Parts: sequence; C-alpha cells; structure tokens
Amino acid sequence: MTLNNARLVFWVGALVSAAIFGWMTYDFHQQEEKYAHNSKIDEQVVAGKKVWHKYNCNVCHTILGFGAYYAPDMTKAYYRLGENNIISIVMEPEKVYRDSFRKMPNLGVSEEEARNLVRFLHWTADIENRNWPPQDEKYVKAAKMRADQPANVERTDIVLGTCGGCHSFVNQGRNVAGDFSDLARESSFDRTTLIRFMQDPQSVNPDSDMPPQNVTPETAGIIADFILSLR
Ligand code: HEC
Ligand code: HEC
Repeated sequence: MTLNNARLVFWVGALVSAAIFGWMTYDFHQQEEKYAHNSKIDEQVVAGKKVWHKYNCNVCHTILGFGAYYAPDMTKAYYRLGENNIISIVMEPEKVYRDSFRKMPNLGVSEEEARNLVRFLHWTADIENRNWPPQDEKYVKAAKMRADQPANVERTDIVLGTCGGCHSFVNQGRNVAGDFSDLARESSFDRTTLIRFMQDPQSVNPDSDMPPQNVTPETAGIIADFILSLR
C-alpha cells in the first residue's frame, strides 16, 4: 500500500465513522421522549434522584448499568417490589432483612425521601431500555398485566413478581422471609385471612414485619389460591 492510499483509508474511515456517530447521537436525542419519557420528570422524580445520590445507593446497587453488583439491580425495582415494599426496605432494612445473610444498612432515609425515591424508581422503571436487566422482564410484564389480564401471565410470575422480593418458590425469588412451599404448610390462614394478611399484615398479626402489599383484591385472590394449592 502506498502512503497516499493509507492516508485515504484513514481519512475515509475516520470521517465515515464520525458521521455515523454524529447521526446516531442526533437520532438518540430526537427519540428521548419516546424512550425516556422526559416530560414525566417532575419535582419528585428529581428529588428522588438526589436522594439516590445523597445516600450513595450506587455503592451497592446498580441502576441503568451503573453501580455495584453487591445488591439487586434497581432499574426495574419499582415493578418487582411496589411502593410499600420499597419504602419499608429503605427505611427499615434491619427489620425486613433481619433473617438475610446479606445486609443493607439503615441509612436514616426519611419518609419523604423514601417517597421521592419511589417516584424516581418508577420513572426509571418506565424507561424503554430493551428489557434490561433481562431477569426482571417477566416480573415487569406480570406487574403490568396482573390486574387486567391475569389469564395471559404465568401464575408463578404473578406470585414472584409481587412477593419474590422476600419469599421464594422453587429457586426463584429471594428467601429472606420464607419459601412458599414451607409457608403454605406452616400457615393456618384460610383464603380470606390470607388475602387480608397480604393487604394489611398488621391487622392479622400486629407484630408482623411484612409491609402491606400493593395488590388489588383480585391479584391477592390469585396469589392466595396459589399458596393454598401448595398445601
Ligand atoms: C452497603 C450496601 C447498600 C447500600 C449503601 C444500599 N443498599 Fe439497598 N440493599 C443492599 C443489600 C445487600 C440488599 C439485599 C438484601 C438481601 O437480599 O438480604 C438491598 C436491597 C435493597 C432493595 C430491595 C431490592 C430487591 O430487589 O428486593 C431496595 C429497594 C434497596 N436496597 C434500596 C436501596 C436504596 C434506595 C439505597 C440508597 C438510599 C440503598 N438500597 C443503599 C445493600 C445496600
Ligand atoms: C418486603 C418483604 C416481604 C414481601 C415483599 C412479602 N413478604 Fe410475606 N413476610 C415477610 C416477613 C418479614 C414475614 C415474616 C413473618 C412476619 O413478620 O409476619 C412474612 C411472612 C409471610 C407469611 C407467613 C405469615 C404467618 O404468620 O404465617 C405469609 C403467608 C406471607 N408472608 C405471604 C406473602 C405474600 C403472599 C406476599 C406477596 C403478596 C408477601 N408475603 C410479600 C416479608 C415480606
């Protein structure tokens, strides 16, 4: 190859790559609203993001591919856990995770900060990021469809998408508060009590450390039938 040919290859390659990169950057910004719903960023979402930074949650958690892998990925946590669970975990991890070998410290997050965090995690979970992280995708789908089209979702995905943050079933979910196979045998609740326990655990057992679950009576019914079928 002559020196001139080599120069030509270098300049054509560099300019074509720069043009493609420039076009992709422009195209990405054109589609921000469609993928990231920027117009939904309100004061609470911004405040929640600041809470995330204030307590450095990234030291242990990953969000949108950024952070550490010691603790669960937070990108889609809103759909996997729901509002009440996130608030309880963030404000009282020592209670919710008292039987877990891993530890999340109590960082002294106030209730207002926790509520703003939920708004931030809700916005993050709605970003169209081509189903990342993949392990959460079926639970996101279950959370979105469980109320209106439960017949179109796997029952175990409904159960674990709702309760899998603290309970497990056949190697899925996280067993920090009991596996459903054991809970089904040990618990003496009938269907009605089980549904009430999900929605307001403290009304059934005042000492319960389980947070009230954000489920409709219909979803609670599906989950109760699942648990009772394991007896
Ligand atoms: C020192 C490490 C550490 C820090 C800092 C930390 N966490 Fe955690 N977090 C954990 C661990 C570990 C778990 C999982 C506990 C378990 O499975 O027993 C967890 C679990 C969670 C969960 C439940 C996740 C799930 O998928 O079930 C939420 C929500 C959460 N953390 C939110 C936060 C927020 C918000 C912050 C910042 C305010 C934060 N964490 C800071 C270690 C940490
Ligand atoms: C944030 C953690 C968390 C989530 C999410 C969670 N639980 Fe629990 N659950 C607990 C804890 C902690 C206990 C231990 C007993 C107690 O304190 O009541 C428990 C206990 C139970 C028990 C046994 C109660 C008894 O006294 O016999 C049942 C049944 C149960 N959970 C069902 C569910 C169902 C169904 C869901 C989903 C709709 C769910 N849980 C979601 C934390 C959780």
